[in-house]
Amino acid sequence: MTNLRLANPEIATLDVDAVVIGVVSNDSDIGLAPGAESVDRAFGGELAAVLAGLGATGDRGEITKVPTFGKLAAPIVVAVGVGSDAGSGDVEALRRAAGAALRALAGAGSVAVALPATTADDVTAVAAGALLGNYSYLNYRTGNGHKQPVADVTVISDADAGDALHRAEVLAQSVTLVRDLVNTPPSDLSPEILAETAEQVGTDAGLSVQVLDEKALVEGGYGGIAGVGQGSVNPPRLVRLAYSHPEATCTVAYVGKGITFDSGGLSLKPADSMDWMKSDMGGAAAVLGALKAIARLTPKVNVIGYLAIAENMPSGTAQRPSDVITVYGGKTVEVLNTDAEGRLVMADAIVRAGEDDPDLIVDVATLTGAQLVALGTRTAGVMANDDTVRERVVAAAGRAGEAAWPMPLPEELRKGLDSTVADIANISGERWGGMLTAGVFLKEFVPEGVRWAHLDIAGPAFHRGEPYGYTPKGGTGAAVRTLVQIAEDVAADGL
Ligand code: BES
Ligand code: MN
Ligand code: ZN
Repeated sequence: MTNLRLANPEIATLDVDAVVIGVVSNDSDIGLAPGAESVDRAFGGELAAVLAGLGATGDRGEITKVPTFGKLAAPIVVAVGVGSDAGSGDVEALRRAAGAALRALAGAGSVAVALPATTADDVTAVAAGALLGNYSYLNYRTGNGHKQPVADVTVISDADAGDALHRAEVLAQSVTLVRDLVNTPPSDLSPEILAETAEQVGTDAGLSVQVLDEKALVEGGYGGIAGVGQGSVNPPRLVRLAYSHPEATCTVAYVGKGITFDSGGLSLKPADSMDWMKSDMGGAAAVLGALKAIARLTPKVNVIGYLAIAENMPSGTAQRPSDVITVYGGKTVEVLNTDAEGRLVMADAIVRAGEDDPDLIVDVATLTGAQLVALGTRTAGVMANDDTVRERVVAAAGRAGEAAWPMPLPEELRKGLDSTVADIANISGERWGGMLTAGVFLKEFVPEGVRWAHLDIAGPAFHRGEPYGYTPKGGTGAAVRTLVQIAEDVAADGL
């Protein structure tokens, strides 16, 4: 774990391996971002000229390293491009700049980050961006050839920071937990292990935790989770985590999709769609991470988390296309495609969440490839049975620094899910709008009168491209910060 601290802006004598400053791009020129003043003084006011000479443009994420030759105690200055509007309260720009700088500094021991941080929110952003960029998943690397994350990060600011660093640490540690879980090979993260991990994390955080095993799931009537899990030698689980606040007036339920590996089942996926399906538990991991963070931030709201966990595998015991299952609560579903498994496990858990009498249910799932077609790899789709709730969830995501966009649940899509034998089918005859169809399916299982939002994070949960800002390759920790923000918003403003 990274040590994080705050120090005031006299950086010349700071004993660190590198000092990070910001470079702003103006029209044809570059400038130093606020926060770099004392470093610039050590360079006789010539630092911008030195950077320009090295070809720095100030483009977002650009890294330029400058040796200090004793001008500072730190041997190098790392200039990170912050774009054209730095210092204008764009906290996401601060997070990304700090994250890009820390990624470039992997292997260093100690780093001071002197980006424009004039408010407590800025300090949180710089610290969180630095911690999130300072991530690498080394659990399966052997030998010494792999750069370790930076051990000590100092955020430079004279802001009245209050608990700004603590907040950054809480958020980053939960995101890190989710990234680690998503990155873990599925052979080492079976449903049992994911449930045990959730139980451990939940208990350590002071949450109350219950786990249903495969026997309890069958006896309890959880036909969705049991049905999806029945083809695997690794049996399914349903985890319930509860956080409560004595002065809470609202209860929010989070439901996460926890498919530890999605082969597609008998409706087998092609190989190039399968290799990233270890990320199909990203929703459940996000719910776990959010509950852990919420337990540490103690907002005045009750929050209950459900993790619907199974491994989707083909075998002689697997469910067959055309099987009919009975979801928790009694509705029947014809399973026409075993690869549309997420909605089956989510249906069980959404119905179960309704029994807690929540004022709001938010579910998070790597649910459809169609989410990637519609919104690309980085932007989550947000659907809801209430316009205000949808807007509030999208706004919460924006403030948390996560890309999300409102999507409709067109009524006419329900007809495509009509089954010839059961109450509903799990896939539609309609080819277009697959993300929305999945949302329309889930809506059928939301208890009457309960407000509900659905986040499809199929793309955002797992990053296959080159790292950028504070986002590494692999598990991203998507939706954790949004779920925390929603809980805090409900605590502050009700519903
Ligand atoms: N886990 C997948 C969705 C997914 C795709 C997540 C790509 C992340 C990246 C889900 O279980 C799935 O297979 N959905 C099917 C549904 C279809 C059969 C109606 C899909 O999107 O192809
Ligand atoms: Mn699937
Ligand atoms: Zn899936």
